[in-house]
Amino acid sequence: MLIVVPGLLSQIAAVAGFAAALLFILGLKRMSSPVTARSGIVVAGIGMLVAVAAAFLALGEIPDAALPYYQTNILLAVLALVLGTGWAWWSGKRVAITAMPQMVALYNGMGGGAAAAIAAVVLIQGPIPTRLILASTVIGALIGSISLSGSVIAWAKLDGRINGTWRFNGQSLFNGAVFVAALLLGLVIIAVPGIPAAPVLAIIFFAAALVFGVLMTLPIGGADMPVVISLYNAFTGLSVGLEGYAMQNPTLMIAGMVVGSAGTLLTVLMAKAMNRSLFNVLFSNFGGGGGMDESQIAGSQKPADAGDAAIAMRYAQSVVIVPGYGLAVAQAQQKLYELVKMLQAADVEVKFAVHPVAGRMPGHMNVLLAEAGVPYDIIFDMEEINEEFANVDVALVIGANDVVNPAARSDKGSPIYGMPILNVDHARQAYVIKRGKGKGYAGVENLLFYADNCNLVYGDAQAVLVQMIQALKDLGGSTHAKAA
Ligand code: TAP
Repeated sequence: MLIVVPGLLSQIAAVAGFAAALLFILGLKRMSSPVTARSGIVVAGIGMLVAVAAAFLALGEIPDAALPYYQTNILLAVLALVLGTGWAWWSGKRVAITAMPQMVALYNGMGGGAAAAIAAVVLIQGPIPTRLILASTVIGALIGSISLSGSVIAWAKLDGRINGTWRFNGQSLFNGAVFVAALLLGLVIIAVPGIPAAPVLAIIFFAAALVFGVLMTLPIGGADMPVVISLYNAFTGLSVGLEGYAMQNPTLMIAGMVVGSAGTLLTVLMAKAMNRSLFNVLFSNFGGGGGMDESQIAGSQKPADAGDAAIAMRYAQSVVIVPGYGLAVAQAQQKLYELVKMLQAADVEVKFAVHPVAGRMPGHMNVLLAEAGVPYDIIFDMEEINEEFANVDVALVIGANDVVNPAARSDKGSPIYGMPILNVDHARQAYVIKRGKGKGYAGVENLLFYADNCNLVYGDAQAVLVQMIQALKDLGGSTHAKAA
């Protein structure tokens, strides 16, 4: 039996909701730096806990007559919470760091789906007090549904369950028609009184929005998937904010706006990092496809021994390390930092250069390096360090490919053409650790690997780093002989 204290509980719930919103903002602020990011996640998580508690607290003032109806709903909500928490805890613990982007895509889709589900209940149950609230519900439903189905397709693509891109002639037109159909249905629901309660119309509207999410994502492939996931993240935030308005729930509104604006900003930044305008991301069949102009390849790939590469670094003045997806696959970050410390002990200046889309998710490399304990002051973003490569003795590329491919500057036919890259080819000497002739995410040959100043150290990154460390140990001492 719920205890009813008129006025007081809803006031406490309102204050708790406001506190939760503040915690979300504080958490997000802390996530902006790797030093405070971990605590930022905890703070935002506490915010979510407070928000859930506030929602239950507010139920304390339900009139007695409505209690039986709410009690069933509360039971269902508790069941959903238990199942959701259990599943998220279990899957979150098990997920490999390389599978994190898929997980983010899936969780993000669920946020959009939850917002769309709220809208479905509001639309079908009615009555909706004002036209503005109705409009907010419908727009939130449209965006949330697109985010749900689009994110599921993004998850399936990243998880290798759907391969390649799916294209046909007139696809943009067809996609546009499906979107306009969903939009028109939404407008009818908003404009015609009494329609909100018409389940058939609502079902067709939701189906059109869901189909559009699928159609919009299927043609996308190659290097653009991170932008898409970030875009859907922004969509989810927006739809949650709109449904928050529909439910007159300030906590949801603030949380949605925080996610929506952060997601939009991230989308813009990532689009910029991959040299795509937001318009291009939104309205064209981007990513995937395209080959490479093989005539640009001159020379051959020159293998090098791990020990020789280690000794070259040991006698260099400056070394810049470029981590990539292969570092995550090999889970070689601890060994890498061990090597770095040995080089530093030999008075070599070591820096890390991190490309904004290296790896498979935003901040992927920063997470790996932080996990190994690499100090933040030797980790540099692309724009901070790119000019320095010309004066660097040795650039060591570990499991990175697309983000160091000079074809992005010169090959107009390449799917990565125009993407800013790290100027590893400008360094005096480059070593690239990779297992074999495998291509990068965009599936194109890398011109760097054929350059005169580049050698390839073949092998799993972890195994190669162990050999490099051993070579330095064999060399002994820490006296530094400056490179000529
Ligand atoms: P990639 O271009 O994907 O290249 C990774 C390289 O690592 C491969 O060439 C592979 O060659 C090598 N490798 C794999 N496992 C290895 C291991 N165990 N040891 C050593 N090497 C290994 O990586 P990147 O340069 O980091 O570029 C990221 C790409 O992913 C970009 O195209 C980006 O757009 C895309 N993407 C990024 C994100 C985000 S948000 N970061 C999300 C999705 C997609 P071998 O097979 O020969 O070893």
